[in-house]
Amino acid sequence: MAGRYSESLIDEVLHSNDIIDIISEYVNLKRTGRNYKGLCPFHTEKTPSFMVSQDKQLYHCFGCGAAGNVINFIMNIENLDFIDALEFLAEKAGINIEQYKENNGNQEIYIKKQKLYEINRQAAIFFYKNLTKNDNEGIRYLKKRGLNIETIKKFGLGYAINDWEALNKYLLAKGYSQKLIYEAGLVIKREKSSGYYDRFRNRVIFPIISTTKKILGFGGRVLDDSIPKYLNSPESLIFNKRNILYGLNLARSELGKERKLILVEGYMDVIALYQYGIKNVIATLGTALTANHGELLKRYCDEVIIAYDSDTAGESATIRGLDVLNEVGCKVKVIKLDRNMDPDEYIRKNGKDSFLEKIKNALPLLDYKIELIKKKYDLSLNEGKIHFLQESIEIIKKLIKSPVEREIYVKKLSKETDVPANVINSEIYGNNKFKKDYKSKKNNYNDVRRLVHLKPVKSVLKDGLVEIEKKIIALCMISKTEYDKIKSHITEEDFSNLLLRNIFSVLGKKYEEDKKIDINLFIDELDIEEAKMLRGIIKNLLPYEDIDKTICELTLSLKRFNIDKKIKSIKNEIKLLEKQENKRKGDVVRINELCGELRRLIEMEKKLMEG
Ligand code: UTP
Ligand code: MN
Repeated sequence: MAGRYSESLIDEVLHSNDIIDIISEYVNLKRTGRNYKGLCPFHTEKTPSFMVSQDKQLYHCFGCGAAGNVINFIMNIENLDFIDALEFLAEKAGINIEQYKENNGNQEIYIKKQKLYEINRQAAIFFYKNLTKNDNEGIRYLKKRGLNIETIKKFGLGYAINDWEALNKYLLAKGYSQKLIYEAGLVIKREKSSGYYDRFRNRVIFPIISTTKKILGFGGRVLDDSIPKYLNSPESLIFNKRNILYGLNLARSELGKERKLILVEGYMDVIALYQYGIKNVIATLGTALTANHGELLKRYCDEVIIAYDSDTAGESATIRGLDVLNEVGCKVKVIKLDRNMDPDEYIRKNGKDSFLEKIKNALPLLDYKIELIKKKYDLSLNEGKIHFLQESIEIIKKLIKSPVEREIYVKKLSKETDVPANVINSEIYGNNKFKKDYKSKKNNYNDVRRLVHLKPVKSVLKDGLVEIEKKIIALCMISKTEYDKIKSHITEEDFSNLLLRNIFSVLGKKYEEDKKIDINLFIDELDIEEAKMLRGIIKNLLPYEDIDKTICELTLSLKRFNIDKKIKSIKNEIKLLEKQENKRKGDVVRINELCGELRRLIEMEKKLMEG
């Protein structure tokens, strides 16, 4: 094979090629409501039954059943295999594929990863023992910073003693090869002479632990003010900062009913808040929040509260983070700390309750953005007011679809600028602009979620549904043939259970690479809870008499259930809007939209039951 690519290339390709743009090069697409429609390129037809969803980035032909994502589309239309289609799209989007090449087979990579995890664990134990067994500079430093032994244990902190070769010698004596120690980034090659020396010396060590409790790498902090303040493990097969969140291994079980996470900047912020009893805290590793982080966060929580340092760097990082999170569909809020303080300093100075109060009063994304705009202009001048209003209105239009919510912000703006609310409203909705605007707006996943109130919350699931979803996954595990059949009926979005949804999606990617799946390898790529779930499913695998019939029944039930759920929530929303006494223009437009959606869903359900 010409070469293998890491899975992240698939993400990158999907991310960079909008399905509407690509398919439009082959099919004349027309927008109909939330989807695009055209004549199916895969079979002959006179009336269009080929649908493309921009929200879901999927196509589906109701005539011939062709379906898939943009990669599948290119495979079929250009008659390419998966890898060629991937390269084709990567090139189109200007992605440098070289950096995604993996030369080894899967099995080899798996073994290598296991070795790296293991050696890191040994190193972590070594650092931990150095810190805890005798009095030393490391422990004195951490105590000075207010950490207690319990916290140190919980985070597995350690100390790299002031020696050039302590760790290297220790690991060699344990039988690890110099090559592996080097590949794990624990030592650095000497430049002038031969040999290696320890990367971390005279630093306190923060092991970076995955949600599956593997040690991915380390951060090491100096004990004084010298620089660099922190040294991190280099990027490796298992250590990729763009995908890692420090503290998620602990925070994931502290989300509470509200499924909230607090995002901070530094290791010490995570640890200090944790010690004070605020345990749902995570940090990036000194990098800006990436889309990968966003996707990862979305899997665990519904809301992220950003508590970055209150300096200007922190502020611009906050804005980028806000957008990333908003794009993946997380609710976002911002905590503002006093000047030049980070959460660690804040909680040590003001205590837990004061920080909890900050959390309670965190600014929603929109308020935060409006506040930033306000800072730019002088509202005592007409000119300043105009700019402030124009920019704020744009943001309101972009971020808020609910007329009720919009109204609240309009009132606020009105108060702040002395411009009457109805004037602001006419800027927002004026000249029927709203209706047009709403229709032509690129609908993202966010809008759809908001429209149907589809909240991926684990606790609302009824057992019946999870059982159906589990059975579907079980069938998918049989072979690619079964998976493909199922995939022609449903997409990952049809799963309500987030664990199962993710298993389905990861499984799909695996099948795209390989016809056969190595179950152990596959489980290793899953999160600990997903792995547990899958093991349970495999254990209870039963033979089916008529697999095709079972697939049809199960996928039909799942789709039916999902449509019912949407119908119910739309009806609810319509009821709420209709109850309002003084309806605004926006409400009426909204009700009409919802009724249209409702009709479409009922029609869909009817078709489903007939077909
Ligand atoms: P901070 O300087 O805010 O870290 O950098 P901190 O945790 O508050 O450190 P203390 O309180 O001074 O001990 C934020 C994060 O940026 C990364 C680290 O992940 C750090 O936690 N960083 C910072 C580096 O990787 N290298 C550096 O030299 C500095
Ligand atoms: Mn700090």
